[in-house]
Amino acid sequence: MSRLWIALLVLVAACKGEVAGGKADGAAVFAEVCASCHGGGGTPSPSLAQQLGVKDLRAPEFAARASLELVRNQVRNGSANKVMPSFGGTLTDPQIDAVAAYVLSLSGAGPAPAPAPAAP
Ligand code: HEC
Repeated sequence: MSRLWIALLVLVAACKGEVAGGKADGAAVFAEVCASCHGGGGTPSPSLAQQLGVKDLRAPEFAARASLELVRNQVRNGSANKVMPSFGGTLTDPQIDAVAAYVLSLSGAGPAPAPAPAAP
């Protein structure tokens, strides 16, 4: 693939509403723009964790303090050290909400599941 193509792909991916075809599908958004650093299941490769300091989104330590608000802010603004980019200009608000809920589901920190139906 030529450099021009790579540059074009990056440009296309950077347009708001282009990620995951503009759909608010948390799993699809995660696979497209988060998995390259955080790993497909939320756990980064050991080399990325070590070299970039990518956080494990399935760690119990993260699950214990994770919230929709925390993930939304992180995605909108990026990390304080700027290693994780800001996605505020790339993802729509519904996509940010969807990917935040998806991240919480990875760590089991999501909103409490619906109660099981009462036994007869
Ligand atoms: C370029 C690599 C990269 C990409 C792409 C990336 N991240 Fe990150 N992410 C990081 C790094 C590095 C950190 C740790 C930053 C720090 O130490 O402050 C991090 C931290 C986080 C945290 C905070 C974890 C904690 O322990 O508080 C969340 C949540 C998160 N990322 C979610 C996402 C989501 C969702 C996406 C996709 C929309 C994404 N990241 C894309 C590199 C990335």
